[in-house]
Amino acid sequence: MIFGRPHRHFRQTDSTNERAKELAEAGAPGGLVVTADEQSAGRGRQERTWFGRAGASLLYSALLRPYDGDPLLPLAVPIAVCEAAEAAAPVRCRVKWPNDVWIDERKVAGVLIEARPDRGWAVIGVGLNVAVPEDELPAELRDRATSLAPTEAEGGVPPGGAPTLNDVLRELNLALGRWVETSGEEVLGPYRARDALVGRRVSWDGGTGVAAGIDGLGHLIVEVAGGTPVVLGAGEVHLAVG
Ligand code: BTN
Repeated sequence: MIFGRPHRHFRQTDSTNERAKELAEAGAPGGLVVTADEQSAGRGRQERTWFGRAGASLLYSALLRPYDGDPLLPLAVPIAVCEAAEAAAPVRCRVKWPNDVWIDERKVAGVLIEARPDRGWAVIGVGLNVAVPEDELPAELRDRATSLAPTEAEGGVPPGGAPTLNDVLRELNLALGRWVETSGEEVLGPYRARDALVGRRVSWDGGTGVAAGIDGLGHLIVEVAGGTPVVLGAGEVHLAVG
């Protein structure tokens, strides 16, 4: 699958996912990518807002069509984001289940997939901090978020220069194209190799335990004291890592 053809770029919009869903319903072809400099109502998972800074954050939505409801798509996408990030900058990424992308212990990217398998499409939304200065992050994110490349002001531009938004966009289109065509064990193996949670204490509304990896459908398995393991679905829980 080839992403980025066509490509619609907005200087400002409410949410690139909203634009892409609208275009999907209007018959846009699979491969369409929508990007924006700024979003006035960027959305994250579980009704959260998504912060982005013009020129420093990649705000990206891709239309996958056809889409029949593959349950492993939410695992394949963050692997693609990791590969794109690693191709653009000297970093190593891992995935915090279900689909946050971390560098060390900090979130560099998030994924919001909005799918209508009944209508044959999915919109894959990715927000990726490319070079957001730490002091420009909202206070509540400052110790939990990071960027792909430290900014010049932070004194850490790597040899060869910091990646541009266009570098990252190009790598993401390529990596996503590979990963949406991957299925089953070809997704589960690489996901497990990047699993940042395995062996970590986690808590959710219903309890606490130790993450023990993912099952064949991408659910999180959690060992709980004195009981049978609990299996969590991505849509159901807000997970905290202890
Ligand atoms: C999350 O981690 O909660 C997911 C964040 C997804 C944010 C991206 S930014 C581009 C696209 N448009 C949106 O409104 N959301 C996604």
